[in-house]
Amino acid sequence: MTTTRGIILAGGTGSRLFPVTVGVSKQLLPVYNKPMIYFPLSTLMLAGIRDILIITTPEDQGQFRRVLGDGSQWGLSFSYVVQPRPEGLAQAFVLGRDFLQGGPAALILGDNLFYGHGLQERVSRAAAQRSGATIFAYEVADPSAYGVVTIGPDGRPTEIVEKPSEPKSPWAVTGFYLFDEKVCDIAARVTPSPRGELEIVSVIDAYLKAGTLNVEFLGRGFAWLDTGTHDALLEASEFVRTIEHRQRNRIACIEEIAFRAGYIDREGLIRAAQPLSKTDYGRHLLRIAAESA
Ligand code: G1P
Repeated sequence: MTTTRGIILAGGTGSRLFPVTVGVSKQLLPVYNKPMIYFPLSTLMLAGIRDILIITTPEDQGQFRRVLGDGSQWGLSFSYVVQPRPEGLAQAFVLGRDFLQGGPAALILGDNLFYGHGLQERVSRAAAQRSGATIFAYEVADPSAYGVVTIGPDGRPTEIVEKPSEPKSPWAVTGFYLFDEKVCDIAARVTPSPRGELEIVSVIDAYLKAGTLNVEFLGRGFAWLDTGTHDALLEASEFVRTIEHRQRNRIACIEEIAFRAGYIDREGLIRAAQPLSKTDYGRHLLRIAAESA
């Protein structure tokens, strides 16, 4: 059985964050104390995914490599590919076809942040599913900024529309998607939308029409934040800061997740923590290592 491989889409111009993102990729900007990409990476790890393709712009790939390396320091394996132009999210499956080796895929957008009790169980269960597609829906105040899924009386999805001006439902489609091995063939058939992009909702719609789309609802116990505007970015930082100040837990702590999953041992954890030892983040990792001695 082929295991699910993951893709983090971290391309794009970040034009909604200009001028901040003129010189640096959006997904490397800080969300409080970590590069943004740590957050989607942690979600893939919680889903049990270790083989990960990172898609970046041609200009930014070197910086991502500097931040993330080949993943072996965290017991992971990273591959890299460039997206020459931002031509839509579904392009991930054109660019990622070789990487996926004909197997199932998880796609996460590099600016999506998920947090909540039981997240690991929810995402790992969905990733273990072998056929069809799973999307995660979240009730938001303004769905018109997102893909929106409409749900029928039987709880099944009936329609999915990208950024509708008059949304028929409050359920936004979050940027974490799981697809079976058919996804590359489906994505290859998608044609550009009126805004010139290969839309991810077109891929999801193919599963919906085939009757194989599963919608997981993330309720009020979960936070789903995106970081697409200056305000949203600051709010995400404030959210992480608030939780991390109050609790002993840390959010999107890659090294800790790797250690608890058994991907790295105690020595590996200490090795990863040492360069960070001047920060609260590093001290948190060293404390975990001390407690597990
Ligand atoms: C993209 C997708 C949209 C989804 C959103 C989640 O929008 O096209 O369907 O709801 O991500 O973050 P974008 O962020 O590219 O505007």
